[in-house]
Amino acid sequence: MERHLINTTASVSEKDSIIRFKRDVLNGLKASPKELQPKYFYDEVGTELFRKIMKLPEYYLTDCELDIFQHKTAQLAKLITQHNEEFDLIELGSGDGFKSKHLLDYLFHSKTNFTYMPIDISKSALEYLSESLNDQLPGMEIQSFQGEYVEMLAEACYSSKRRKVVLFLGANIGNMELPQANEFCGELQSLLSPKDLLLVGFDLKKDPKKVLAAYNDTSGITSQFNLNLLERINRELDADFVVDQFEHYPVYDPISGACRSFLVSLNQQQVCIGENQIHFQKNEVIQMEISQKYDLNGICDLAAKTGFKTVGMIADSNGWFVDAIWEKRE
Ligand SMILES: C[S@@+](CC[C@H](N)C(=O)[O-])C[C@H]1O[C@@H](n2cnc3c(N)ncnc32)[C@H](O)[C@@H]1O
Repeated sequence: MERHLINTTASVSEKDSIIRFKRDVLNGLKASPKELQPKYFYDEVGTELFRKIMKLPEYYLTDCELDIFQHKTAQLAKLITQHNEEFDLIELGSGDGFKSKHLLDYLFHSKTNFTYMPIDISKSALEYLSESLNDQLPGMEIQSFQGEYVEMLAEACYSSKRRKVVLFLGANIGNMELPQANEFCGELQSLLSPKDLLLVGFDLKKDPKKVLAAYNDTSGITSQFNLNLLERINRELDADFVVDQFEHYPVYDPISGACRSFLVSLNQQQVCIGENQIHFQKNEVIQMEISQKYDLNGICDLAAKTGFKTVGMIADSNGWFVDAIWEKRE
């Protein structure tokens, strides 16, 4: 089969993405409490640091979902190819495709007719993914989209009329507050057609110590990952954060299932971002990221409320993580 590696479609120019980045950073740091959006973690350095996080012994999430993609591939493939038609396999926030490659390999070698469409905000993640797929699965059709989830899913849906199977792995949905996750699933549902599928990875509530350790590794990589966002702001927005004046602080609430990461200002300090000045009190925090943990009822409720029917639920062998397969209702 001839290889069709279609050039990456990008949603906005580099200049516009810097304008958006600056606007979001300033709005977040002028708010109370201060916050930064986790989607900005993934510049080239952040993308590389996240690859290291996935290999940490404490970060069980990758191993759990890998267990599903590596050992239950046939079950996954059967669920997503049930209508036996050609389809587009769209992956939101694909990163390096470490887990999805097992499914791609299975589908490709079983001669399934599909095009793989990774979507990611990180240009370097998409470049790395395309190059590695070129080596590992030469001949597989890929069309990549650089930009935000919903914007680029709309482009992908517009680009072909084939059935869609959308992957949203890695418990990325946990990076949204519950109302935001509801709104997001509703937006995806409105872009899809009846019978299209959405496969979402959810991290489940479990031993609170195990959850917290995943965001507080002893080697300090998660701390570097969080602090890199301040360094990115320095690099790209002409800012002067003194990064060692901030400390990574994660907390987990086992009742709500919300694990939150903060950066704590170790002193009273003033930071310039271009011509803007941001003041920090000693011990003031910046909210960085939520990693929401779910239970099975919460997952089924989310599907039902946003117009999907659960057609499959595949857990890892520990029962710590599930990939839920939802079909858009008629
Ligand atoms: C936590 S990583 C997970 C990567 C992969 N899905 C996995 O399970 O290993 C999140 C990925 O989503 C991308 N991402 C984060 N926010 C995004 C957004 N709003 N739109 C598009 N991509 C986003 C990041 O660049 C990163 O590659």
